[in-house]
Amino acid sequence: MNPQITSFQQYQEVYNQSVNDPEGFWAEVAQNFQWRKPWKKTLEWDFATANTKWFVGGKMNITENALDRHLATRGDQAAIIWESNDPEEESITLTYKMLHQKVCQFANVLKKHGAKKGDRICIYMPMIPELAIAVLACARIGAIHSVVFGGFSAQSIADRINDAQCNIVITSDGSFRGNKEIALKSTVDDALIQCPSVQKVIVSTRTRTPVSMLKGRDVWWENEVKTVSSDCPAEEMDSEDMLFILYTSGSTGKPKGVVHTCGGYMVYATYTFANVFQYQPEQIHFCTADIGWITGHSYIVYGPLCHGATTLMFEGIPTYPDAGRFWDVIDKHKVDILYTAPTAIRSLMSFGNQFLENKDLSSLKTLGSVGEPINEEAWNWYNENIGKGKCPIVDTWWQTETGGMMISPIAGITPTKPGYATLPLPGVQLMLVDEQGNEILGNGVSGNLCIKFPWPGIIRTTYGDHERCIQTYFSTYKNLYFTGDGCLRDEDGYYRITGRVDDVINVSGHRIGTAEVENAINMHLGVIESAVVGYPHDIKGQGIYAYVICDKDLEDKDLARKDILASVTRVIGPIAKPDKIQFVSGLPKTRSGKIMRRILRKVAEGETSNIGDTSTLLDPSVVEEIIGGAL
Ligand code: WTA
Repeated sequence: MNPQITSFQQYQEVYNQSVNDPEGFWAEVAQNFQWRKPWKKTLEWDFATANTKWFVGGKMNITENALDRHLATRGDQAAIIWESNDPEEESITLTYKMLHQKVCQFANVLKKHGAKKGDRICIYMPMIPELAIAVLACARIGAIHSVVFGGFSAQSIADRINDAQCNIVITSDGSFRGNKEIALKSTVDDALIQCPSVQKVIVSTRTRTPVSMLKGRDVWWENEVKTVSSDCPAEEMDSEDMLFILYTSGSTGKPKGVVHTCGGYMVYATYTFANVFQYQPEQIHFCTADIGWITGHSYIVYGPLCHGATTLMFEGIPTYPDAGRFWDVIDKHKVDILYTAPTAIRSLMSFGNQFLENKDLSSLKTLGSVGEPINEEAWNWYNENIGKGKCPIVDTWWQTETGGMMISPIAGITPTKPGYATLPLPGVQLMLVDEQGNEILGNGVSGNLCIKFPWPGIIRTTYGDHERCIQTYFSTYKNLYFTGDGCLRDEDGYYRITGRVDDVINVSGHRIGTAEVENAINMHLGVIESAVVGYPHDIKGQGIYAYVICDKDLEDKDLARKDILASVTRVIGPIAKPDKIQFVSGLPKTRSGKIMRRILRKVAEGETSNIGDTSTLLDPSVVEEIIGGAL
């Protein structure tokens, strides 16, 4: 399917070729896909205007690549294996033929309800096969999907629907997560009070939670699919037509809709999938992410399916019914590749090795990590206890905006080092810069991580606001894409990501903007002002620390804390809840009114003496109060 690199020397050759002749390199990779019409020009780009086009003029549909073209060769092979939250519930296998049929059928349901090419469709669902089917059905008819993670609040859903002006929402009655049952449809109902653009809601059944179905607007998935045929030719898409929007947090303002387009994203997600994991035919690939995040888009759905792989979708959580669940799933389905996040690894590690006893993990060939820096201790535990010292670990660095993995070892080929994402993948041209944007050359250095040349999976725009895309990614440093991450390049030229250098916190691998959390806290009656920073957290990587000024002497701090947590849950969702809330009477501000977050970060990290220069503060005495009350 996709060419695979087979030796380290070949990686170096391919890498050099991809830098010397990027267009030639990617054109060759793209030949391995099915195009209805060939592209006329491989690349057009200008970072100053945030304009990148790959495979210009090429016509295709990603679902023909993910489904139709496999029917003749592997129609009866499992495309998706689904494992329930409940270990007693039978798993489901959808072969390529079955998945193709279900996608076409649901695509016809969408059409029946008026969906057409270019429409935006919001998907808010649990990790059930219908979620993958919904995503692919949108792509089939050229509608742009916007998947919203099932843990977000009604307000967050409403903001995303309104930003993209979605006309259809696809959801479920509810979802199962561990021993919890979470209502989804009623959350959508709450959101839709604010969303006049939505005409139709399609509801699939999962939990049998009672739901209210609005006449004329809401329909049941199961009823609708009975009314349509399962023949649905794919819409012809231009390489640069939008495929999906995925909202992600940044330093300022509301989450922005990262836009990916059809051709380049397909080529990039698939090429990186095939190469980084060194996927071999018939292997079972288990990515533990949720499809609500980019990792799920690229490495549960599109990358594996476009490569003709078998992808495992898991509905549940790593600790239900106990902390051995991942190992049970691996044992049961004879998983070859496990791709998970450091948070999950650290959490499972904290339970000790008792949950590994009697679990047969011998099917594993490759282990992956994504979403946050992996500390050495977790890396070593993963290597020794899960990989038994025999499975290469690929620590993959990338972002929602990059569409696919950017810095990563190639499994079994690139020599690894704990904590290092190692080397750039073919086509990825990195640059470290200082604050002024000067390139930092040589090895044994660190700086801000930038990318100087486009790759096919690069963000195309932020939905509805192209200027924001230019400002956020292409303006900090001239003619460079700025990642927002700090990075070190060691003596061997190996890259290690050190974390965000902007006001984004990475909590359990989820990106959360400090400004968003502050806004949510400030919405609470009685809160005057707040400042949020990240601090090191043993399991989550980073925790959320909030400093809050309330308007009068608080009588019941515990209650106020609970109220604030409830506000954040309501405005954003439980993932953004602060771990610590410290009530303060003032914040360290400069004379011009800017909060000195550097000081707040130090205090949150547990620093009490080395706070640094406070002489520019309007009122340096607040620092003592803050240190005195630190949690
Ligand atoms: C962080 C997730 C260190 C980084 C695919 C990045 C990582 C942000 C790694 C993107 C890694 C991701 N090592 N840090 N291997 N992978 N990150 O958009 O800070 O949810 O900017 O994409 O996660 O998060 P996002």
